[in-house]
Parts: sequence; structure tokens; C-alpha cells
Amino acid sequence: MKIAFFSTQSYDRNYFNRYNTGHELVFFEAPLNEQTVNLATGFTAICAFVNDQLNTAVINQLAAQGIKFIALRCAGYNNVDLAAAKAHNIPVVRVPAYSPYAVAEHAVALILTLNRKTHKAYNRVREGNFSLERLTGFDLHGKTVGVIGTGKIGQVFAGIMQGFGCRVLAFDVIANRDMEAQGVEYLPLVKLLPQCDIISLHCPLNDQTKHIIGPLTLNMMKDGAMLINTSRGALIDTKAAIEALKTGKLGYLGIDVYEQEEKLFFHNLQDEIIHDDTIMRLMSFPNVLVTAHQGFFTDEALTQIAQTTIQSINDFEQGKPLSNKIA
Ligand code: NAI
Repeated sequence: MKIAFFSTQSYDRNYFNRYNTGHELVFFEAPLNEQTVNLATGFTAICAFVNDQLNTAVINQLAAQGIKFIALRCAGYNNVDLAAAKAHNIPVVRVPAYSPYAVAEHAVALILTLNRKTHKAYNRVREGNFSLERLTGFDLHGKTVGVIGTGKIGQVFAGIMQGFGCRVLAFDVIANRDMEAQGVEYLPLVKLLPQCDIISLHCPLNDQTKHIIGPLTLNMMKDGAMLINTSRGALIDTKAAIEALKTGKLGYLGIDVYEQEEKLFFHNLQDEIIHDDTIMRLMSFPNVLVTAHQGFFTDEALTQIAQTTIQSINDFEQGKPLSNKIA
């Protein structure tokens, strides 16, 4: 099958070429949107990533160009108009699970870095500054951690934090019995937020969860709490988070995802003027850590992403049931 890959980087080419089973893979660096959709002309399928825009207009155009199959090489699908795909009878598949450990462990990396300031210590020591001034952290042991969204990643994250000796509270629309057996207590958000020293977001982005962290919920948090988001940027109302950082209500913010990330993340903009004043303001805080959507970025996860996507393409070509179909 001839497949157009959008938003690709060298690692996408490496892993997909390694696990390809004979398909014709064409890799475009361009993201998929209304301006670039014509690149998919002459292909049978497309493969898209987190910031590609699969809105109604793009899907209508893909259908008109003869695209028969959409493979997302990610877990989240908030960027896809599933109803439009269904209307054109174009199946959409995703990679529902590719190492939940990769993302959960990255959330923990953000916590440890913000807390123990290893990023600052690294730079200091390299410049011959061996002072410990302003590097004070806190013990994770005995602290209360709130997990919002206890699916595959949230569950792994909760287990790691329990390993540090933390008390773990959770909020989800469906309680996970295994987690309860593991000693995690489910609470409504309004009860969970005021108790937590650290809150980590692991729910998908949808109409219910957009800005789940905004002025009201930030106000419910403990003074000086740490907020971690490795899920999707728009779970946090960024402007409200900036206000909470200014007052000290929010003590630390660690994000791997950002509301307007599609214009920034995955690109090297070091010689460019960055026009996004919100992210520049965020990065000016000493207690904010931003990584550019790298939670998934481990060898195991990239292998799983390539293998699962190629398997879905093979299944579609051979008319087999699509186990990872979302529409
Ligand atoms: P999952 O589907 O296994 O778990 C999501 C959980 O969120 C479920 O338990 C669900 O019931 C819960 N949920 C749904 N609506 C909710 C609501 N309104 N309030 C509270 N909880 C709600 O998903 P998984 O694999 O754990 O991934 C979670 C998210 O992580 C994905 O949706 C994706 O956005 C993000 N992600 C980020 C990556 C990165 O590189 N930073 C990589 C992979 C996923």
C-alpha cells in the first residue's frame, strides 16, 4: 500500500523503515492541514501524528483524493473529526498503548527535576559553581499525589509514586479496581485538589476535560502545589496557570504538552523569533519546566508505534478486523 506520512522526523523514518513489511512509505516533514492535504494525492492511506489537523475540511479533502485509511501513530485522537471519517467510511486506527512506562516515567522525571533542580545543578557545576544556595527540594516520601485519569499511563504513574512512599489519590470518571486494590483512593476533584502536593494529568483531552485546570480548580489547590501535564496541553488553561504562578498559588509547573504546541514543538526554532508570548512568559519562571512532547520518546515506544501501525495497515489491506479502530 502507498502511505503518506505527515509531520515526520528522522526517527519516524528510521523506525517505520525498520518495521515496514513491503509498503511504499513516503515521509513528508510537513504537518497535515488544509494547506498540505494535497500532498496525499495518489496515496491509499495516510499516517498522522499528534498535531496534524484532521478536521472536517481535511477529511473531506482526503476522501475526495481517494484516501481509504487513516493511521494515527499516537494514542490521543482529539485532533480528528471522527464523525467526518465515519461519514466517508474511512477507518481511523491509532496506537492505543505504546509503553505507558515511557510517559509515566517522563512525568516522574519532570517532578524530580523541578523538585531537586538537577537542571540548574548541572549547569552550575559545569561552570565551577558548587554552591547549594536555592537548590533546596523536598522529600517525595510522605507527600500526597493526585492522579487525574487512571488509565494505562495514570496507573503506571501511581505505582511509581507509591514506590517513593507517596499517598496517591485519584480522580477518574471510572474507578480502576486494580488501583483501589493497590491502595489508591478515588475522590471527587473538589476533594482531591486541596489535599495534593503534586497533581499529574493523565486523562484524554475532550469537551469535559478541556481546561479541567483553570482559575477555579487552581484556586482549590494547596498553596505551592506542583502541577504536571504530560497528557494534552489544553487540559490546562495556560493563562490561568501563569496567574497562579505569579501569585505563588502554583509552586511548580512541569509540562510536556502545551495548548498552542503545534507551531513550536518538534521543530528547531533556535534561530527564529518566537511569537508566542504565552510560552515565553511561562519559560521565564524559574519554577516552570517545559519539554517538547517527548513523553513517548523511548526506543520501546517508537518500536511499538511502528509495529502496531504497520500491523493495522496490513490488517486493513487483508480485510481483517481492525483491533485498534476508533472510527
Ligand atoms: P487511557 O485511555 O488508558 O486512560 C485515560 C483515562 O482517563 C481513563 O481511565 C479514562 O476513564 C479517564 N478519563 C476520561 N475522561 C475523563 C474525565 N473527564 N475526567 C477524568 N478522567 C477521565 O489513556 P492513556 O494511554 O493512559 O493516555 C492518557 C493520555 O496521555 C492520552 O489521552 C494522551 O493525551 C496522553 N499521551 C501523551 C503522550 C506524550 O508523549 N506526552 C504519549 C501518549 C499519550
